[in-house]
Amino acid sequence: MTSTASTQRTLHVALGERSYPIHIGTELIGRADMLTPYLAGQQVMVVTNETIAPLYLEKLCASLPKHLEVRTVVLPDGEQYKTIEQVSRIWDALLEAGFNRRCTLIALGGGVIGDMVGYAAASYQRGVAFIQVPTTLLSQVDSSVGGKTGVNHPLGKNMIGAFWQPKAVLVDIDSLKSLPRRELSAGVAEVIKYGLIRDEAFLSWLEANMPALLDVEPEVVAEAIARSCQIKADIVAEDETEQGVRALLNLGHTFGHAIEAHQGYGNWLHGEAVGAGMAMAATLSNRLGWIDDAALARSLAVIESAELPLAAPANMSSDDFLARMRLDKKNIDTRLRLVLLNALGDACVSDATPTDMLRTLLDAYPRC
Ligand code: NAD
Ligand code: GLY
Repeated sequence: MTSTASTQRTLHVALGERSYPIHIGTELIGRADMLTPYLAGQQVMVVTNETIAPLYLEKLCASLPKHLEVRTVVLPDGEQYKTIEQVSRIWDALLEAGFNRRCTLIALGGGVIGDMVGYAAASYQRGVAFIQVPTTLLSQVDSSVGGKTGVNHPLGKNMIGAFWQPKAVLVDIDSLKSLPRRELSAGVAEVIKYGLIRDEAFLSWLEANMPALLDVEPEVVAEAIARSCQIKADIVAEDETEQGVRALLNLGHTFGHAIEAHQGYGNWLHGEAVGAGMAMAATLSNRLGWIDDAALARSLAVIESAELPLAAPANMSSDDFLARMRLDKKNIDTRLRLVLLNALGDACVSDATPTDMLRTLLDAYPRC
């Protein structure tokens, strides 16, 4: 890691010829030198949504060299629009503009925009370049890194997609100043995830720095993003297509995706569902005897300190959970596989939970 100032750093995702940098710092949107080295050719399509466009689109476009052909697409805002229909609008715009295989897509927005633009880039003319400019905490610490792209299906979250790595990730932490507090908390869920699965010292750091993180203190935010991205970059470098260790990044997601899909996309934020899902996974780990009561209490307390829900939705029965969880991408044949905790900072993927035990946990689990 190199550092030019306390908030400025560059990390690398090491994937051979598909390696790329993650630039983290302030005042990065608007800097030409942060984008131009990663453009494939002269044609650039910037894709964002109706909320982010008035905030950052003009500034980003103004930083691109004048000789380039720059087009924009502004999509509706919301998880409910993370659909193949919206990706099709990007394909339409690319074809109408006559963009060729040396074009570059730029995803300006949160995880919804990033996942859709990545999928559009993966599939347009069998694959073109794209750059991630994430503007939510969640996308800065997780979704912009690692190349998972795709859309939701009414029957399941992120069920249609591809692995397609960006050419660069540009994390401008100034963009968090306009982010609503609820969205910030949702992003902290994924930050906590890294501590729980891989790094107990980072979890302790988070416990000490949570108020400063929620207040968006630049040095604390930059440190949280850098430590999160480093853990993710290491895991992705080891297992790009989730044959093994990458599945650990799904702590809380099997429960969480079930909540999101059941509640209707956009009603529970992804990070909120992951927060409750991690609380459920920690509780199950405790019931299995893998983590003690003190470790469970710490897990729940740190999730709660980020202003995230611990309880599951009141309108979701155990059968609702089990039906959704059977569609999880980690499952092999009919076996349900869950990410659980061996200890704080140490997770595993396990198919050892008997359905009866899971049902008992779900029946007794608090509802909100
Ligand atoms: P999001 O993209 O919906 O953004 C949240 C909200 O914040 C939106 O209303 C958006 O318009 C608004 N917003 C974004 N930046 C803003 C800013 N700077 N100022 C003000 N408002 C801003 O949600 P998200 O939490 O960023 O991402 C969630 C999505 O990411 C989910 O679809 C999830 O499945 C996906 N995800 C993907 C991966 C991956 O590896 N690809 C990992 C985690 C999550
Ligand atoms: N967010 C899970 C992953 O990237 O693998």
